Amino acid sequence: MKAIGVTKDESGPQILDVPDPEPASNEALVRTLRVGVDGTDHEVIEGSHGGFPEGEKYHILGHEAVGVVEEPNETSFEKGDIVVPTVRRPPAGEDNGYFAREEADMAPPEKTLERGIDGAHGFMSEYFVSEERFLIPIPEELAARGFLVEPVSISEKALELAYSSRSSFTWEPESALVLGNGSLGLLTVAMLTAEMDVYCLGRRDRPDPTIDLIEQLDATYVDSRETPVEEIPDVHQSMDLVYEGTGYAKHAITSVHALAPNGVAALLGIPEPWEFEIDGGKFHKECVMYNKAIVGSVNSGPRHFRDAVDRLQELPEDALDALVTRIVDYDDFERAFEDSDEIIKTAVEFESLE
Ligand code: NAP
Ligand code: BGC
Ligand code: ZN
Repeated sequence: MKAIGVTKDESGPQILDVPDPEPASNEALVRTLRVGVDGTDHEVIEGSHGGFPEGEKYHILGHEAVGVVEEPNETSFEKGDIVVPTVRRPPAGEDNGYFAREEADMAPPEKTLERGIDGAHGFMSEYFVSEERFLIPIPEELAARGFLVEPVSISEKALELAYSSRSSFTWEPESALVLGNGSLGLLTVAMLTAEMDVYCLGRRDRPDPTIDLIEQLDATYVDSRETPVEEIPDVHQSMDLVYEGTGYAKHAITSVHALAPNGVAALLGIPEPWEFEIDGGKFHKECVMYNKAIVGSVNSGPRHFRDAVDRLQELPEDALDALVTRIVDYDDFERAFEDSDEIIKTAVEFESLE
């Protein structure tokens, strides 16, 4: 079958001819419909995050997938069911407690593989196989946008962690600052604008499609070149919630200075090591004296996927249309990985949904 992946010999994604996957009796065979691309895929392609499956010369990309069950085997699915796979899988021979408790998203990196990212093949192929416990059924009418379930589930988890860190007192957030106007940041803006005043940080000049989308969602664009994160309270307002989706390591510190008393910052970006100077005393004191919290959040579990299925059906359709700038046929896959300010979110299509 055809797959899109990276190899140890060539740079950039390639179209590969790989053996058809053979499902074990407890695995369904899934025909791939669409697979989304995000910043992490670019990091995997560059080699700055994740890694090849052990002993393999190629690595199939893609962790944001939607497909249709082709052969249910001994799972309870029926042929034709639309499913979205979760990302994490147990390391070979080690189905550890995180997986047994359905909390693989809380496993440290050494206790898990990630399909399409770290140590396991992804879903960017004509077919993939998966155990039932890692497949989330979705309504048929969501098939075309099903590749957005995984990224929305990432923010469902991060927001759950952020809210639960504030659950011991009355916390009614009215303002949020989303750092980053990539696809993750913009999806999160779309998730939050119904509930609070939302600001979104970027570093782009107008005209720009991400700024247009931020404003279409009734959020306020903030240019980090004019207003650094720590100065946002002086120019706009202090934020009850900060959601970091830039991978810009200084934001892990400056987020705290943008928070209102009792606020929480959720960190999601995955930066490279970077040493810089900070006023550690100011940072520490502000966290303590203003009861501020910082939570890191990675990946998402089946519960967050199910919440994401509901959420996706509530998000404004015109905003989702503006977010997904390009769906490309798999043999035109290079256009899904182009680096251009005109592109927000892309997906590779294996089977036409028209
Ligand atoms: P992305 O497309 O690379 O988006 C990052 C955005 O942040 C870009 O639009 C970039 O702007 C902007 N940005 C970076 N530094 C900035 C700065 N100093 N000021 C203002 N804007 C800045 O990536 P993504 O897919 O949205 O994901 C966001 C981050 O979260 C990535 O680091 C990714 O690896 C990570 N991630 C984590 C999880 C998790 O489970 N924790 C899940 C998914 C993604 P330009 O485009 O103008 O450069
Ligand atoms: C994926 C997550 C994964 C994380 C870290 C993200 O892009 O959506 O599922 O856990 O990267 O590798
Ligand atoms: Zn991702």
